[in-house]
Amino acid sequence: MGVLDKIYEIVSKDRVFTSKSDLYAYGFDASIHHAMPSVVVKPKNSEEVEEIVKLANEHCIPVVARGAGTALCGQAVPIYGGILLDMTGMNRIKEIRIEDLYCVVEPGVIYAKLNEALAKYGFFFPPTPGSGDVCTIGGMIAVNASGMRAIKYGATRDYVLGLEIVFPYGRVRFGSRTLKNSAGYQVERLIVGSEGTLGIITEATLRIAPLPEKRAVALASFNDVVKAGEGVASIIANGLLPSALEIMDKVCIQAVKKAMGIDLPDAEALLLIEVDGKEKVVREEIEKIAKVLERKADKIEFTDDEERMAELWKGRKGVLPSLSRYGEDMISVSLADDMSVPISKIPIAIKEFQKIAKKYGIIVGTYGHAGDGNLHTKVLINPKKEESWKDAEKAVNEIYEVVYRLGGIASGEHGIGITKAPWLNGDVATMERIKKAIDPNNIMNPGKMMQWKKGIIAYLRYK
Ligand code: LAC
Ligand code: ZN
Repeated sequence: MGVLDKIYEIVSKDRVFTSKSDLYAYGFDASIHHAMPSVVVKPKNSEEVEEIVKLANEHCIPVVARGAGTALCGQAVPIYGGILLDMTGMNRIKEIRIEDLYCVVEPGVIYAKLNEALAKYGFFFPPTPGSGDVCTIGGMIAVNASGMRAIKYGATRDYVLGLEIVFPYGRVRFGSRTLKNSAGYQVERLIVGSEGTLGIITEATLRIAPLPEKRAVALASFNDVVKAGEGVASIIANGLLPSALEIMDKVCIQAVKKAMGIDLPDAEALLLIEVDGKEKVVREEIEKIAKVLERKADKIEFTDDEERMAELWKGRKGVLPSLSRYGEDMISVSLADDMSVPISKIPIAIKEFQKIAKKYGIIVGTYGHAGDGNLHTKVLINPKKEESWKDAEKAVNEIYEVVYRLGGIASGEHGIGITKAPWLNGDVATMERIKKAIDPNNIMNPGKMMQWKKGIIAYLRYK
């Protein structure tokens, strides 16, 4: 009996896809890469995942899990073919335990849907990724996603209390339903950010938090992006803790205005600052922030109007897709796209990135979560021109040299995948030992992260 027949014994035929068009479509995520799986399986429970992974292990077939496919570095692209597990069918919110401050979800639950459900109780799951309207919790855990509110609330890792994971040798559980845990290795935390290279997440117990009573926003305009970066550092140095502190440079501002028609000032840079908490505290904090920025900013708009706040956040979340509409024949590619640097290094980092962009004659849009030092630099190129890719690659190499020189790290929230693999830091040999111990046949998302041996311009989705 062939492997496909065995798959049909585990999962009903309507949830197994083998047509060329399906395999082609499933070969993409949101990165620059593309590769086709041999078969796509859409499991509906943990038992099915366990059976499939065990089968794959027996036959040494690669297994790649995928949520909504919003990964920006190629994590969901099955470069060696094999079985692609579409986890979106496992989308049940199993439990919401307000008094115990946790919820239990399947990996295919969409982030926004979870927060809709929690909002009914006045609670939320705080990490706020830009792709939150569509991304899945499993994908967020797999890359330790975070986003706009990490400055105050932390990243996904800080909210994972327990996980059920399918390793090649079977299904296991780690962690607990308690907020504290000092009981041995926290394997559940090791799985956060492992990008499917160790096992498949089939259930997550997540910490939740009460929704703030009030939110308000300040939008500060600057005539120099470096000044905006300095503004960020002074807000932090003054002991203020906004719930979001986002930066956007001119390229990003213009892209959002053009693509989305959002009303933003024509500045060189903007800081979008959100404060949350009790009403009185919010007012005081916003006033303090305004005072700190007084001499640096040209203009500061304040709002607690729900509609305007929603518009500004829509614009901010829309930066990534909007950048591809910035210029003719140019698209935004995710290269060097989410480095983190110590907060005080933001101004110098931006200055250095601008110099590098100029040197190679490329356009780089810089934006991101400046309040926690996490920047997004999106390179705008003509993907059909080989020289564009070459220049971009050189620029990216120099950008990472700057990042490491400043004490930063290659990825703050999108993960490593393929696109950032050459700049993975830490003792790679130790990572390989862990991988080997859990996955000796190297079937779990093989070739990614520390195993990636080629440059970044490989498996390109552009012809
Ligand atoms: C953002 C995503 C790209 O912040 O991380 O828009
Ligand atoms: Zn981001």
